[in-house]
Amino acid sequence: MSYAIEAEGIEKTFGGDVRALDGVSFAVEEGTVFGLLGPNGAGKTTAVRILTTILAPDGGRGRVLGHDVVSEAVLVRRLIGLAGQNAAVDPYLTGRENLTMVGRLNRLSHEVVAQRAGELLEQFGLVDAANRPLKTYSGGMRRRLDVAAALVARPPVLFLDEPTTGLDPHSRSDVWGMIEGLVGGGTTVLLTTQYLEEADRLARRVAVVDRGRVIAEGTPEQLKADLGTTVLDVGLADAATAERAAQVLAQTATRAPSVVGSMVELPVDDGPRAAMEVLRLLDRHALSPTVFRLREPSLDDVFLSITGKPTEEGSEDGASPVDVPRTDGKGRRSRRRPGKSRQVSATSPDGGARAR
Ligand SMILES: Nc1ncnc2c1ncn2[C@@H]1O[C@H](COP(=O)(O)OP(=O)(O)OP(=O)(O)O)[C@@H](O)[C@H]1O
Ligand SMILES: [Mg+2]
Repeated sequence: MSYAIEAEGIEKTFGGDVRALDGVSFAVEEGTVFGLLGPNGAGKTTAVRILTTILAPDGGRGRVLGHDVVSEAVLVRRLIGLAGQNAAVDPYLTGRENLTMVGRLNRLSHEVVAQRAGELLEQFGLVDAANRPLKTYSGGMRRRLDVAAALVARPPVLFLDEPTTGLDPHSRSDVWGMIEGLVGGGTTVLLTTQYLEEADRLARRVAVVDRGRVIAEGTPEQLKADLGTTVLDVGLADAATAERAAQVLAQTATRAPSVVGSMVELPVDDGPRAAMEVLRLLDRHALSPTVFRLREPSLDDVFLSITGKPTEEGSEDGASPVDVPRTDGKGRRSRRRPGKSRQVSATSPDGGARAR
C-alpha cells in the first residue's frame, strides 16, 4: 500500500513552552480522504503547516508522495494544494483574478491559467460572480474560491484546513460533493475538521488529535464500534436530576455515562438488556425519564468519550455550539477518561481496533 502523506513523530513547540505537536504520526493512503479531528488548539493547523512546508518541525519527519517536507520542500510544494484556515486570497481582486494570480505564481502559462480558471469557476458554481471582487462574496462563495485556488495547479495531494467551517448546510454539502469528485479522480485529501459528520461522510480514516498527540486513529466505523454497538439516551427533568441519574447508572455501566444538559448518554453493548436494567435502576431511585431511546453511536460520541470535550460545531458561524458542560457522571467536568484512549494502528494487519 502506498501512502501519499506520512507524518512520523512530528514535534513542534512555539515560544519555548507551547507544545503544539508532541510526536504526531499518521499515514494517508493515496487516493483517499483522511480526516484530522480535534478540538480548538489541538494542533491540526500546525500539522498541516508542517506537512505543507510552511513551518519546519522541531522533530520527526513528514513526507508527501515519498518526498521529505524539509529537505525536498521545493519539490513537495509542486505536488500539493492548500486551502488554509486563513484564506490566502486577495479580497480586492475578482474571483477570476485570484485564480489567475495563483496560476501565474505556479508558473503556468497565460493560456493554461485562463482555461483552468474558467473550468474551476464553472465547477464551483462561481461563473456569475467571477468578475466581482472577493470582498462582495458570501462566506460560502469565498470558501469555494479558496478551495478552487488550491486546485489551479491540479495537485495530486490536497490539504484542506477546515474547508467547511462557517458554511451553511447547503454550501457545506456542495464542498463535500466537490471533495468526493476530486477523490474520485485520484486526488489524495487531508482535511481537518471539527464536524464529525463531515469526517464520517468523507474520510476513509480519521485521526483524533488532542493536545498535540494522536489519541485515536482508524476508520470512522472502527472508532464508533469501539464505543459499543449502542448508545442509550436518557432525558431527565433537569441537569441536576441528570447528574443524579448518571451517578446511579455509573454503578452498573461498563462504560462511563456522560451528562449533556439534562440528558445522560450511556454507551452500552447489549441495548435491550441494558435498557431494562437502566429502567429498573431509575425506578428504584424514583427517577423517571422524559426521553428514553437507543441509537447508534456517532463520531461525536467517540470524540466526547476520548477527549472529554464536545465538538465545537457551529461555534465560528454563530450557530449553536455544542458547548453544554459535560460531566463524567460523578459531578466532575470530564476531561479525558483514564483507560479510554485508544489507537487503531495504521498498519494493523487485520485493520482492527487496537487499544494503546
Ligand atoms: N505561531 C504560533 N505561535 C505561538 N503559538 C502557536 C502558533 N501557532 C499555533 N500556536 C499554538 O499551538 C497550539 C496548536 O494550534 P493549532 O492552530 O495547530 O490548533 P488547531 O487544532 O488548528 O486549532 P483550531 O481548531 O482552533 O484551528 C495552540 O495552543 C496555539 O495557540
Ligand atoms: Mg486550526
